[in-house]
Amino acid sequence: MVSSLELIATCIVIPFSFFILQHILLSATKDEPPFVKGPFPFLGSAFAYLRDPQQFLHGLQKKYGPIFTVYIAGERMTFLADPKIGNRQVLNNRSSLSFLHFQQKYSQTFFGYTKSVAMDLDFQQKLIHQINTVMSSKPLLAEITQTIKTTYLGLIDNSRYAKCNGEVIDLYQFCRYNMYYSSARALFGPGFPFEEIYQPYLCFEDDLPKFARGYPRFLNSKGYTEQQKVLDELGSFVTDPSRIAQSSALIRSLYDICMASTHKSPADIAGFFFSVLLASKSNSIPAAFWTLANIVADAGVKAEIEEIIPKYYIAEKDDFDWNELQKVPLITSCFKETLRLYGNAVSTRQVMEDFTLRVGNPSDNNAKDMRLRAGSAVLMPMSMTHWNPDVYPTPMKWIGRRFMEENQGVWVHGGDKLHAYTPWGGGAYICPGRHLAFEEAVIQLVYVLSRFGIEPIKDIPSFVVDDRYGTGVFRPAKSYHVKFTARTVVAAPPQ
Ligand code: HEM
Ligand SMILES: *[C@@H]1O[C@H](CO)[C@@H](O)[C@H](O)[C@H]1NC(C)=O
Repeated sequence: MVSSLELIATCIVIPFSFFILQHILLSATKDEPPFVKGPFPFLGSAFAYLRDPQQFLHGLQKKYGPIFTVYIAGERMTFLADPKIGNRQVLNNRSSLSFLHFQQKYSQTFFGYTKSVAMDLDFQQKLIHQINTVMSSKPLLAEITQTIKTTYLGLIDNSRYAKCNGEVIDLYQFCRYNMYYSSARALFGPGFPFEEIYQPYLCFEDDLPKFARGYPRFLNSKGYTEQQKVLDELGSFVTDPSRIAQSSALIRSLYDICMASTHKSPADIAGFFFSVLLASKSNSIPAAFWTLANIVADAGVKAEIEEIIPKYYIAEKDDFDWNELQKVPLITSCFKETLRLYGNAVSTRQVMEDFTLRVGNPSDNNAKDMRLRAGSAVLMPMSMTHWNPDVYPTPMKWIGRRFMEENQGVWVHGGDKLHAYTPWGGGAYICPGRHLAFEEAVIQLVYVLSRFGIEPIKDIPSFVVDDRYGTGVFRPAKSYHVKFTARTVVAAPPQ
């Protein structure tokens, strides 16, 4: 007879030795990327990764080069930063490398998808396809951006800042509130419960790293509570047809697809709409802020842009020529540079079948074939390419003119053939909101600079990396106080 103590001991020892044995046996074959299995059974390199992902990954990148596989919590995760050929092969092959299968592992926790939506990848595919269709339609996108413009202008012209004179404000709070409000209203219509959603949403975002790392509920109870508040509000929003009817073509058409499917409960729709809210706000708002803030902090660039803006003012229409403004090289360069430095997303794919990838530089004859195992995951953190000093000298410095034509070969090395700039991911799942995000940044830049004289009184804040690595565009580490003075002449027509 076995005593209960022995039984307990056996129950613990057998699985434990299984993990140890499994860990000892873990390996990679010669045709696979360098393998970092880490010191701990099952957990592998999880601790080193969680402690400081930036330092950990960049250390491995130095040691192993553009591709290596890390064993983390039972999974093989291949990190890839090979802008010449590797990344593109992964991004362009949607049959062997799946965006949705990777996302599926997190979509219930992260977005609050119901199980029925989370399991139905064809349905999700249909919805993403619809987002792409609407976002690439010029007139439909123009309707959305028109509402953003009117709302944004209304907010600042009717705010207490409209007549301010040397008032100190926190530019981040200012931008975040105004842009969130305008953009959410443009997408979800005037019936969007902004006041109810804004604060819980921001709290949820604060806890994003915990969701990304799969913390159990009891270690992330605030995050889950705030997420639930947003989901509840979205749930009651979608049960009110009159509010849906006033929303954008994007939201209306996504709603129609849901209602024509088997996933039409308020919770089903709320979960998906939550992901749209997150995708459309979490990155574009800090991106628009950093664009403006860096321009404000750079006296030379600021003076030049303040001279450019009035040239695109059309007095008869009392409006700007937005199409032309968006083509101004200095403005596009500033926005690109902002996403290079602050855009910290990760493109992720699940390997569906063994896949052979060519990595390295074909012209140096050092390209190699690497096999990725079915069932593993590929992660392409953008900072592994965007902060590479060989491509972008002094990578941690924001240089507004970096992407200007004349700086090719000076501040950007590698030329057109190098695909070292991927803030939107790529291939079939390239961000469908990229045009909208750029327009939002330009709208805020132009309105704020044409309405206010802005004087920085402190250095621009740094950004928080820590545990936020890979969770999207970085947030400022602290407030950015500047002095606002309302302009008497909004914009002068060209001389
Ligand atoms: C600066 C702002 C933004 C950045 C840096 C950004 C970045 C990204 C990235 C990296 C991906 C994954 C692509 C891949 O893995 O290949 C993505 C997907 C996506 N983005 Fe954006 N995005 C931004 C703004 C927006 C906006 C304004 C929308 C508005 C609709 C949006 C909607 C989406 C959707 C729907 C997806 C794909 C599916 C999903 O994640 O559910 N994004 N974005
Ligand atoms: C994707 O990869 C698989 C396996 O290597 C290959 O058979 C297929 O042709 C590739 N598809 C595309 C579009 O490149």
